[in-house]
Amino acid sequence: MIAIYPGSFDPITLGHLDIIERGCKLFDQVIVAVLRNPSKSPLFTVQERIEQISLSTQHLSNLEVDSFIGLTVEYAKLKNARVLLRGLRVLSDFEGELQMAHTNETLWNEIETVFLATSNEYSFLSSSVVKEVAKFGGSVAHLVPPQVALDLCRCYTETPLE
Ligand code: PNS
Repeated sequence: MIAIYPGSFDPITLGHLDIIERGCKLFDQVIVAVLRNPSKSPLFTVQERIEQISLSTQHLSNLEVDSFIGLTVEYAKLKNARVLLRGLRVLSDFEGELQMAHTNETLWNEIETVFLATSNEYSFLSSSVVKEVAKFGGSVAHLVPPQVALDLCRCYTETPLE
């Protein structure tokens, strides 16, 4: 069974990595799919995000990293996948995630969304929080994979705050 883990991953955090590692134990193959979203202005390019995820997941043999544009369910069909994997951190995630799962189900009734409860230690963690801390010079080494911590440091050193 193939599962797609779609998201922005700008950048990948240890919370995402937790979901990926656990997903790889549950499914035959997991595809981390980075959304190419022209209406967002991300910190990292899609290529950079793919590299960050690939470097952080080298230990997982049943993992593929890819990008997609458009509807997630169309991408899932293309990849022969019937499962969408998503992490749930706190209650406030639930409403948006349920809406997304129901919408996807109306678009393709073969798709199932599987939610994994994010491990407790990462329940507060998001890509936005990580960027906020890094932007003001705080250490994010305990929040993201090592390569991402380096990339964030480089990013905000090259673009100092006014
Ligand atoms: O990491 P994110 O930003 O929470 O991920 C959101 C994502 C990429 C899963 C979601 O925005 C998505 O699936 N976008 C693709 C467009 C789509 O299929 N929309 C229908 C579901 S509402």
